[in-house]
Amino acid sequence: MEHRSENQAVIHISHPQKYLLLPIEEQAEESTVWVKDMNGNNRPMQIRLAQQTVDYYVPYLLDIGQKDLTVEITHPHPVVWEQITLSDTYDASNRETFRPLYHFTPLYGWMNDPNGLVYLDGEYHLYYQYNPYGSIWENMHWGHAVTKDFIHWEHLEVAIMPDELGTVFSGNCIIDTQNTAGFGKNAMIAFYTSAGKEQTQSIAYSTDQGRTFKKYDKNPVVSADIPDFRDPNVFYHTPSEKWIMVIAAGQEVQLYSSENLLDWKYESSFGEGYGNHGGVWECPDLFEMEIEDQPGKTKWVLLLNINPGGIFGGSATQYFTGEFDGSVFTCESKPETVKWMDWGKDHYATITWSNAPDNRKIAIAWMSNWQYANQVPTKQYRSANSVPRELKLYRQQNESYLINEPVEELKQLRKSEKTHPAIVVDRSKPYHIDSILEENEGAYELEIDFRNSSAEVFGFTLFNEKGDHVDLYYNLPEKRFYMDRTKSGLVDFSKDFPAITYAPVEKADTYKLRIFVDKCSIECFAGDGKFVMTNLVFPEEPYNRLSFYSKGGDFDVESVKIYNF
Ligand code: FRU
Repeated sequence: MEHRSENQAVIHISHPQKYLLLPIEEQAEESTVWVKDMNGNNRPMQIRLAQQTVDYYVPYLLDIGQKDLTVEITHPHPVVWEQITLSDTYDASNRETFRPLYHFTPLYGWMNDPNGLVYLDGEYHLYYQYNPYGSIWENMHWGHAVTKDFIHWEHLEVAIMPDELGTVFSGNCIIDTQNTAGFGKNAMIAFYTSAGKEQTQSIAYSTDQGRTFKKYDKNPVVSADIPDFRDPNVFYHTPSEKWIMVIAAGQEVQLYSSENLLDWKYESSFGEGYGNHGGVWECPDLFEMEIEDQPGKTKWVLLLNINPGGIFGGSATQYFTGEFDGSVFTCESKPETVKWMDWGKDHYATITWSNAPDNRKIAIAWMSNWQYANQVPTKQYRSANSVPRELKLYRQQNESYLINEPVEELKQLRKSEKTHPAIVVDRSKPYHIDSILEENEGAYELEIDFRNSSAEVFGFTLFNEKGDHVDLYYNLPEKRFYMDRTKSGLVDFSKDFPAITYAPVEKADTYKLRIFVDKCSIECFAGDGKFVMTNLVFPEEPYNRLSFYSKGGDFDVESVKIYNF
């Protein structure tokens, strides 16, 4: 390394090397780091380079054949120059206690919103908001992975990188089967927000199964003088033979139309006075769905993520249902109606896969909350996605509601099944299951059927030897199902983390729950899909005990099935 000044050094590369390894210290302030290749082309990144200690390293991918690199750092600590090294390998093996086993996480670095969900030739693509240079939000790129079964994910190279228009914020992908844009038949086209001085909407396209993207040379394609103007979501509207783009714009959405995917015309806005307005609207997704048991009858669903303003604070997903005529979305509900898609604290930026086979509508959410996403106790990576969920639509009292169910594919995770005999739980003493699994790695599913006789409050506690516990229970007088994670393990990394969340329930004779536990998360699905509650938890060891309890009467646990994953 040859120092040119306090801020600049030239690194001579004598034989081909793949990476520059950069030392990160999460508490350090950001430096602007500019790794200039032979053509001086690369973009500067904001990186928390080590000042005192090295928390971990991140790899900076070098071009093949790179000889001399100039590295420029705004306020380098001498430690940094000592720690930067060249390497042919980067060790991405897992070093995290809380890394989920079957939920998607990035190998390293920060992840937020799922982006560009699209199905093509047997693969479900997942792009995502990604910082490859540290496990804290910054430098947005589109990371990339694919799955065939929603269980095994293949990590692929970063798909879209920042450019002179800005970093690459959220958006979606479509398959241009008719070559309307002229990038080629069946080109995959990504729409995303270029987040620079302004937020504008840009296009990139791929003709190699989503592996690499070229940016459209006339970007941006949609601009407006609105500060929060982002997260484009495009779909084809068959009756009007037009492409539609929905964009979050402050606290409403704007709709645009196009015939060629390149030139866009403003059509309408939706949102003023409707739903929740506790924060900025983000990541919209508009699609048509058939109503359950009413073949041929459809409604339009507008998923809309909001931050802050979520029902339990911070981020959450609301949705609207109604009609769309190719220009205007009309909500069927009273303006003050708010429909939440998930009743936990960690379900955000939800969007659905486009072009999915068999007319499936599959959604996935970022399983975190902007209130504490940057502080959760992991390092090598931050954030997981929810399990993918199959959406259906049902009608009740002249309103349409979403059903959320875990995708059928997840049943393949069930490696072994343990069934408990029926249990009568009376109010005088709880019933304990002392060991959920002999070898509990913290990744399992519980399927529980209840029959209530006289209890007012009934449910169970999941806990471990350390005393970390989560309570899940129905409170019938309040017509609610609750999850209490206030004593669930590590909770004090943020004042907003300890929480009790609840979903509305109707009184019934029987109740069924499917609960997915995966190291640091609990997703609780009502058997009929009418509510789902997603919450993060950080227990010091896996919850391996369960205790049923009841208040104000008795109830039966007709069946408990434990599936080890
Ligand atoms: C939602 C969001 C989007 C934006 C992205 C930036 O979580 O704020 O609106 O495009 O994250 O990473």
